Amino acid sequence: MTDTTRRNRILVVDDEKNQRELYQLILEDAGYEVISAASAQAALRLYEEAEVDLVLTDFNMTGMDGLALLKELVAREPSVIVVMITAFGSVDSVKDALRSGAYDYLEKPVDQETLLRTVSEALAGLRQLDGDIIGASDAIERVKRMILKVAGSSSTVLVRGESGTGKEKVARSVHRASQRSSNVFQAVNCAALNENLLESELFGHEKGSFTGANAQKKGLFETASGGTLFLDEIGDVSPAMQVKLLRALQEREVTRVGGTKPVQVDVRLIAATNRDLEVMVKDGRFREDLYYRLNVIPIVIPPLRERRDDILALTDFFVAKHSAAEGRRFRGISADARKLLLEYGWPGNVRQLESAVERAILLAETDRIEVEDLPVEIRQANEPSTNFAFKLPPEGISFEDLERSLIIQAMEQSGWNITRAAKLLGLSFRTLQYRLEKFGIKKRGDE
Ligand SMILES: Nc1ncnc2c1ncn2[C@@H]1O[C@H](COP(=O)(O)OP(=O)(O)OP(=O)(O)O)[C@@H](O)[C@H]1O
Ligand SMILES: [Mg+2]
Repeated sequence: MTDTTRRNRILVVDDEKNQRELYQLILEDAGYEVISAASAQAALRLYEEAEVDLVLTDFNMTGMDGLALLKELVAREPSVIVVMITAFGSVDSVKDALRSGAYDYLEKPVDQETLLRTVSEALAGLRQLDGDIIGASDAIERVKRMILKVAGSSSTVLVRGESGTGKEKVARSVHRASQRSSNVFQAVNCAALNENLLESELFGHEKGSFTGANAQKKGLFETASGGTLFLDEIGDVSPAMQVKLLRALQEREVTRVGGTKPVQVDVRLIAATNRDLEVMVKDGRFREDLYYRLNVIPIVIPPLRERRDDILALTDFFVAKHSAAEGRRFRGISADARKLLLEYGWPGNVRQLESAVERAILLAETDRIEVEDLPVEIRQANEPSTNFAFKLPPEGISFEDLERSLIIQAMEQSGWNITRAAKLLGLSFRTLQYRLEKFGIKKRGDE
């Protein structure tokens, strides 16, 4: 959890002592907590140990330089916010830094005002997203930092996540936080249209290009010019369409159906899918070259069951939203109902939570949501079998591997909570704990 009472902590990296102390002084005076490092290596160690909100680093340092530090930090934590300080006039290296995931850069000599403005804008941007993207789990904070980082560029973004995790919400948020926000956000669901319709929708058509094309029509790539085009369910587009999209992305131009002359377009593309594109690439169902073009900046939204810290904040938000829509006031949710919400597996993620709350508000007889107001699947979720969707492992797997696979799945579905996983498996806490140790099962990233 992010502690909102904690002051923002900034890691200052510079091999020149004077510079380091100067930045530290300015930032501390402005109320930030500052830790500092005299080398990139020392910075990496500190970054691992302390919770850091922003890294301010010099570009030219002896040994490992600022760009190498940036790349290493991004490899460890893609959402890290890094501000670079560069020598006056070294524009090319700055471009490298921005491409590698720096949030911004400052040119030397850095004046106090610019430094503080850049830092506070970066951190304020995050807080602004708080009202839009609800949740304060580490996972959602990471998503917010990614939104903020990509907002500053026009790079293509690929939003990944299970159904209902908030992919469209995140796409809209990127648009709103970007310089394109005064222009349109156009969304198109690629799975909802057949190939011909999708092509004419995206690229437009010339008059008479097919039966029914009575007039020339501009496609979304053209009408979204200056703005953002959101391609939802990108994993569902046909192979022929994939080729056309690839060309549009590569050339930054489109040709209307029946047209001959390409038209230049200026759109930020955001694509989303709940499909496993990597598997689709391997199976030859999704073009690898298009995959790389789209996956420039991935934003991954974990399922709700893996960020249970967000459940109550989201519930409160939806109670406020839907009770206002009903013209009613709610005191909240009973303790038992809360407990159920916290323990449920949420296969439909945030969307499912929202509709459960919306329905409960319609049903509630008092000004409080009770267990009875919740949908039956949530009320019955305490019974293991209803909540545990076990994927069958391949045939011929050893008994030990089967047991291991079952345990990992139960742990994943219970958000790595041993008590809950034990309940799903019908084991005691201690038995499961013993088996976890025996198999050396750890949450990915915790090794
Ligand atoms: N972090 C969040 N804060 C507030 N509302 C959210 C959040 N995440 C999702 N929602 C809400 O939940 C609903 C589902 O989100 P959204 O439509 O963006 O999901 P999705 O991933 O696009 O789903 P699908 O895969 O089914 O298209 C929306 O009403 C959205 O506003
Ligand atoms: Mg969606």
